[in-house]
Amino acid sequence: MENNHNFWLPKTNLIGIGAIKDLSSELLAWKLSKVLIVTDKNIISLGYVEIVEKILKSLFIFYDIFDGVLHPNPTVSFVEDGLACCDNSLLDIKKDYDLIISIGGGSNHDCAKAIATVATNGGSITDYEGWNKVTKPPIPQIAINTTAGSGAEITMSAVITDESRKVKMAISSPMMTPLLSVNDPLFMATMSQEVTASSGIDVVSHAIEAYVSIEASPISDALALGALELVFDYLPRAYDNGNDMEAREQMMFANIMAGMAFNTAGLGYVHALAHQIGGFYNVTHGNVNAVLLPHVLEFNAPSIPDERISRICEAIHVKATSKARGIELIAKGIMDLRSHLDIPSSLKEIGMESGDVEELSRNALKDLTSLSNPRKGTLQDIMDIYKSAF
Ligand SMILES: [Fe+2]
Repeated sequence: MENNHNFWLPKTNLIGIGAIKDLSSELLAWKLSKVLIVTDKNIISLGYVEIVEKILKSLFIFYDIFDGVLHPNPTVSFVEDGLACCDNSLLDIKKDYDLIISIGGGSNHDCAKAIATVATNGGSITDYEGWNKVTKPPIPQIAINTTAGSGAEITMSAVITDESRKVKMAISSPMMTPLLSVNDPLFMATMSQEVTASSGIDVVSHAIEAYVSIEASPISDALALGALELVFDYLPRAYDNGNDMEAREQMMFANIMAGMAFNTAGLGYVHALAHQIGGFYNVTHGNVNAVLLPHVLEFNAPSIPDERISRICEAIHVKATSKARGIELIAKGIMDLRSHLDIPSSLKEIGMESGDVEELSRNALKDLTSLSNPRKGTLQDIMDIYKSAF
């Protein structure tokens, strides 16, 4: 069967405690003149933007700051506000930034990817929804990560909410891959317990969805299983004590590995269904995934080979004597982790309304991430998954 396992990643990835110090020498070689920083007010207040500003000043690089990512789940209007920064209305000219630096979690990286894309390709970000619609290279992007969860700093995808349709659009194009990523646990130590939990559990959903995807390969398998093991070993520690730098560092590795895995193998119904809930109610992505995961796993079970269930069990340190028992133990492992992290256990608690199930289900079937799910569902199947998680 024809299938591709192409792999796109940032050309350079600065990884590890103190890795930010290498940014200066990387930037020096690029001969930059004008940079746009895309971030949010919280990241500025934590002092991370100031660290990057000092580096830019030392290299005599001019910069502007766009801090208009006002909440997680960035919207089309945030992207348009960012694009307005690229125009100098007084002189009626484009500012011609030669680099965008996103600082923050997945929302900031995604918003920056969208701004960088529309700045050079024109139109609206809604024109690029789906797979590989971007035709011109976006403004080059550096993504400096402050969470361990989304993988957005290394992936070719962005998720942007179209408020008019209440849909979270998955936009995926190799050209949207940042040129350079920075994953420095020193930038992650101030993550709140809530963000540690919701971003960390997102890594579980990335790893499991990539591992059971129809596009999985030995490359994505190794990364997904490795990531899964790290999350189960270290996420509770990072959650219990945010200053546990070993746990922060291992969660950083887990995030990168799972991001690499799904960037080549794709995702599945957990994300396809979660995107719709996020678009409707603007709720936390990782938490919705955590609720949906056991239910989607149960639906997918007939299409997941026995051996894959055993390998997931090994990664999360449980022993199963049969496939059915393996599914049960994986679901229990996810639910136990979820309760350790104080994440809600039902979609109702998260804020979903039962009257919206049919519309959400129709949209979920159109979501790009549904294409790589191992079992194809009907509209009724999707509605049943939502109902079972309600
Ligand atoms: Fe995710």
